[in-house]
Amino acid sequence: MTAWSSSAAAALVLAAILAGGGPAAAQDGRAAFDARCASCHALGASAPAGPGPHLAGLRGRRVGGDPGFDYSPVLRAATGNWTADRLDRFLADPEEMFPGLWMGGNGIDDPAARRAVVEFLMSR
Ligand code: HEC
Repeated sequence: MTAWSSSAAAALVLAAILAGGGPAAAQDGRAAFDARCASCHALGASAPAGPGPHLAGLRGRRVGGDPGFDYSPVLRAATGNWTADRLDRFLADPEEMFPGLWMGGNGIDDPAARRAVVEFLMSR
C-alpha cells in the first residue's frame, strides 16, 4: 500500500467516525474496545472473571451490576443504570464520576473514539 492510499484510508475511517453511527462506527468501536478495554473486560456474561467486570448487556444494566464481580465501595454504592450518555461521561473521566474507582485511569480522552466505544457497547 502506498503512503497516499494508507493516509486516504485513514481519512475515510476518520470520516466514518466523525459521521457517527452506522456499521463503520460500530466496527471501529469494537477495534478500540479490543485495544483499550478487552485486557480487563470480557463481553460475555459466562466468560471467566478478569481483572474487571464483564460488560455484557451493559445498556440499561445497573451500575456495579455484575453479580460475579467484587466491586470497589464507590461502585457498590452507586445507583442507577448505564445509558449511552452516562457511559460517555464516565469514560471521559472515570474517577471524576466515581472517586476511588479501581479502573486505573483507563478512560478515553478523544471524543470520537469514546463515542465509537459507547455505541459499540450499547449496541450489543
Ligand atoms: C486495567 C484494567 C481495566 C481497563 C484497561 C479498563 N477497565 Fe473498566 N473497569 C476495571 C475495573 C477493575 C472496574 C471495576 C472498578 C471498581 O470496582 O471500582 C471497571 C469498571 C468499568 C465499568 C463499570 C461496570 C459496571 O458493572 O458498572 C465500565 C462501564 C467500564 N469499566 C468500561 C471500560 C471501558 C469501556 C474500558 C476501555 C476504554 C475500560 N473499562 C478499561 C478495569 C479496567
